[in-house]
Amino acid sequence: MDKLTITGGKRLKGTVEISGSKNAALPIMAASILAPGEHHLENIPHLKDVSTMGRLLANLGAGFHIEKNRAILDCTKISRFEAPYDLVSTMRASVLTLGPLVARLGKAKVSLPGGCAIGARPIDLHLMGLEKMGATITLESGYVIAKAKRLKGASVYFDIPTVTGTENIMMAAVLAEGKTLIENAAREPEVVDLADALKSMGARITGAGESVIEVEGVNGLRPLRHVVIPDRIETGTFMVAAGITGGDITIRKCNLQHLDAVVNKLKDTGIRIRPLSGGVRVTGPERLRAVNAKTMPYPGFPTDMQAQFMAMMCIAEGTSVLSESIFENRFMHVAELRRLGADITIEGSTATVQGIQKLRGATLMATDLRASASLIVAALAAAGETTIRRIYHLDRGYERIEQKLVQIGADIRRDKE
Ligand code: EPU
Repeated sequence: MDKLTITGGKRLKGTVEISGSKNAALPIMAASILAPGEHHLENIPHLKDVSTMGRLLANLGAGFHIEKNRAILDCTKISRFEAPYDLVSTMRASVLTLGPLVARLGKAKVSLPGGCAIGARPIDLHLMGLEKMGATITLESGYVIAKAKRLKGASVYFDIPTVTGTENIMMAAVLAEGKTLIENAAREPEVVDLADALKSMGARITGAGESVIEVEGVNGLRPLRHVVIPDRIETGTFMVAAGITGGDITIRKCNLQHLDAVVNKLKDTGIRIRPLSGGVRVTGPERLRAVNAKTMPYPGFPTDMQAQFMAMMCIAEGTSVLSESIFENRFMHVAELRRLGADITIEGSTATVQGIQKLRGATLMATDLRASASLIVAALAAAGETTIRRIYHLDRGYERIEQKLVQIGADIRRDKE
């Protein structure tokens, strides 16, 4: 297992490029199941989760090949319909094969993902949607088995605007008979990107990015050709890294339109954010100001930025109150940030951060993907050396993060434990 060693206190300076979005790439890769032929995807990030999705598709019978940042998926033959436990347990997003498999093959057997480090994360809403569309769902030995000769258009209302649930139902609906309405749909940019990719295959979708998505089923689709959007969470993480180190960096190949809530909050802390053509310049202040934030579904402040924002608040002037309203257990980084000296108290889903002057290096343990990112940004600002262990989570979601950080002046090293 790898560990990172970071010597903090360096002001970040220079230019960094953002990779393709993990959470857009994964559903779009799953969408390739929907049509026979060769699918071409550009701006695919090199990540553990992407190779896991590739393995999963290969396991279903697809050809998967990745070269530079282009993935080619040959889905001429999808001969199996099972997403096995060993793959689903390493990556929850495997559940995104459920909708496309039922749509293309009329059956799917997908391991139930179970809980994870950030919460229970059930998939009941995905299953409810498929049932509404005429699928019969059974649970056997930890697997969901969904069957339908051909899915039928239906009205699917989500109690919670679930991101992967919306994606699964949208993918199921594109080949269904008739019209599907997805109400209280997730509005995340990744949902819109998936809809755009599906439209490149000939799907008929309107309303993606709004609360009601309408899908008119078609009889067949052609292979997809699509360029994945930039990763908004990676962009936000680099903005925080600049802010917390009082740095001055230019971030290229990003899309600020997907980051309104984050940009607003970062500006409130005193960080200067100036759009440039093809990017953005981010300059950290002498001392950050404390700002409150509450995570919400898009266009609200993303839960995937909560941990990184908290790291910054640890050394801001004043007290900030951070509320997590998406996942019930997404404060695992708090105990680790405290090891750096942070003053944080938790009550239910609210963390109160009393800013201190300086964090001090320590040995830390990464617990999930965004927690890992938060520990890195905290360590960049901490005095002395910080070692972060169990960083395999990081490789699931950030492409070459330590190389990108070194490029802008961070003192960070990866070693085998
Ligand atoms: N929920 C249910 N039932 C369901 C589905 C969701 O109760 O059937 C609940 C969840 O437990 C949670 C809330 O609804 O409390 C929202 O969860 P959502 O389904 O939107 O999350 P997700 O689709 O499983 C995606 C991202 C996450 C990101 C969340 C929220 C992917 C592959 N994953 O997860 O990304 O945090 O949306 O924006 O798109 C990450 O990248 O680090 C990550 C965890």
